[in-house]
Amino acid sequence: MRLGQLIEPGDLICLNGEMGAGKTTLTSGIGRGWGAIETVTSPTYVLVNEYHNPNGNELHHIDCYRLADTLDIESTGLEERLENNVALIIEWPEFVLPYLPEERLFIDLIYEDDEIRRIRMRAVGSRYEALLETFVGAAF
Ligand SMILES: Nc1ncnc2c1ncn2[C@@H]1O[C@H](COP(=O)(O)OP(=O)(O)OP(=O)(O)O)[C@@H](O)[C@H]1O
Ligand SMILES: [Mg+2]
Repeated sequence: MRLGQLIEPGDLICLNGEMGAGKTTLTSGIGRGWGAIETVTSPTYVLVNEYHNPNGNELHHIDCYRLADTLDIESTGLEERLENNVALIIEWPEFVLPYLPEERLFIDLIYEDDEIRRIRMRAVGSRYEALLETFVGAAF
């Protein structure tokens, strides 16, 4: 079971974790599992990457790190993306938390050492509780 396969239009996934924890790397795996036609890369310079799958759905990956200083919330197009019912993966969500719906899946990545990351997932809302239950049930 791949987490990406469970993602539906309108889903919101927030990735927490310090710099280098593996948020972008995880996103690329999720994007592949979801079925992205494009290669999933890092949005560090473009802020947002938009992916498509063969079902005609979109997955947008937003890196909010630079909102801490130079950019403002408008530059993310977050509001439109939320309205358009696309699936969203957000890195550094702490910078946009007030603009996000309460219900979401949190993934915390913890850097243990060079080779090892710990992962913790937390669901807020019934949609995400169901998603997590399916994922955990299938994975273990
Ligand atoms: N699960 C993992 N196990 C071992 N190494 C990993 C893992 N995930 C990522 N890495 C490595 O850690 C480094 C940083 O990964 P990544 O760019 O995904 O972090 P990030 O959390 O997105 O960082 P930033 O906050 O700077 O965007 C990369 O060199 C990557 O190969
Ligand atoms: Mg990153």
